[in-house]
Amino acid sequence: MPLVEELPATARVVAVILAAGAGERIGAEEAKAFLDLGGRSILVVATSSAEAASSVDALVVTAPAGLEDRAREELEAVSKPARVVTGGATRQASVATALRVVPGSCEVVLCHDAARPLASPQLFDAVVRALLGGEVADGAIPVVPVADTMKRVRDGEILTTEERGELRAAQTPQAFRAPVLRSALRRALDEDRAFTDDAAAVEWTGGRILAVSGEERNFKITTAEDLERARIELATRRDAARQTSGARDG
Ligand code: CTP
Ligand code: MG
Repeated sequence: MPLVEELPATARVVAVILAAGAGERIGAEEAKAFLDLGGRSILVVATSSAEAASSVDALVVTAPAGLEDRAREELEAVSKPARVVTGGATRQASVATALRVVPGSCEVVLCHDAARPLASPQLFDAVVRALLGGEVADGAIPVVPVADTMKRVRDGEILTTEERGELRAAQTPQAFRAPVLRSALRRALDEDRAFTDDAAAVEWTGGRILAVSGEERNFKITTAEDLERARIELATRRDAARQTSGARDG
């Protein structure tokens, strides 16, 4: 199934891959999503992981304005129905833009940063499973423990030390009941509120979000050092896969 004009109305779970950022902090010539990770771009690696998740029925990718066709070319071989749309000025606006082409009948939306290309397909499935499982919830997100002692600081002075036992760092993919995410983002727009992740918008409207074990290797590529770390991680994985298949074939 190549890129499509309309996502099928039968798609129950749609993954939104957010790739419309400029990548200012990485300081490259190209938009971050098109940077190379050893033969494949960040965009392609992130999208491949999402499409490999058995829970995902279809995909929407947000591309930077002017680079939509470039994204389409790179995603030509995508195996599930996928659409590329132009992202917005902020990440939150990009999610809202993507939601406009998600069919009204869609049950679950997964929001995933292309900047986290190392998320496994199993992580997509895990958040969907948690959301649709026994507990009543509006969303499910991956989190990891924080290693450092966390301080609240104001004007160069420590205010408090946070109880680390309950602190977690949030990752993507984040799964939401589609109508809940839609209404949270609409309200955020109406009230001019900006949130750093999608779960925060849903929490703000009173939504219940479940925490799922995230993945240490699912770090976000923000700086040039992160990019190098991701390249090394992927090369190591490729070597390991080659050795396994070599051992099997030999
Ligand atoms: N993103 C997006 N639309 C925007 C801004 C960000 O789709 N208007 C996406 C990015 O492409 C990225 C994810 O949201 O995959 C997380 O954002 P971030 O890591 O901040 O990426 P950039 O905004 O590209 O980087 P920077 O903030 O350094 O410019
Ligand atoms: Mg950004």
